[in-house]
Amino acid sequence: MISRKIADRINEQINREMASAYLYLGMSAKMAEKGYHGAAKWLLSQYHEEMFHAMKFYGYLLDQGASVELKTLPAPEVKTSDFKELFQKVLEHEKGVTKSIVELLAMAKAENDYATEIFVQWYVGEQVEEEKNASEILQNLDLLGGSSQALFLLNIELGKRVPEVATSFLEVEGAH
Ligand code: FEO
Repeated sequence: MISRKIADRINEQINREMASAYLYLGMSAKMAEKGYHGAAKWLLSQYHEEMFHAMKFYGYLLDQGASVELKTLPAPEVKTSDFKELFQKVLEHEKGVTKSIVELLAMAKAENDYATEIFVQWYVGEQVEEEKNASEILQNLDLLGGSSQALFLLNIELGKRVPEVATSFLEVEGAH
């Protein structure tokens, strides 16, 4: 069993992960509207990653006998469809998520909640990957330059991404 404080904070994290999914869904739609279908697919994969992150926490709460309390999601604000600006936003967003995960880990440590501490460590590693993915896209943009040919090629490359996580949550631990 976990404390009420930790359960509340995990419920908050579920909301943040779902808000991330919603943000990437909004970004994906924006890029698809512009005809950047590769980038749109990459962002849709990212949407699935975020849903998986949320559902992993969801399953953990249920496994621990705690309540899942779903909250309102903010409408995502996607103001740009410029390749570089958009992926800068992705990186910025992921840095914020990393802070939030580290904060949760620190809380679990302070509470001597070893189970949650071990569970959240998975997310710490995941955030290294998330930030790396966005940084590499920005690096490639710089290497290729901002020409329309470069964007065309990068768009094709991004379209090769497939989600590396489950996209169906019927088997989420605890959710049965
Ligand atoms: Fe769930 Fe992109 O962090």
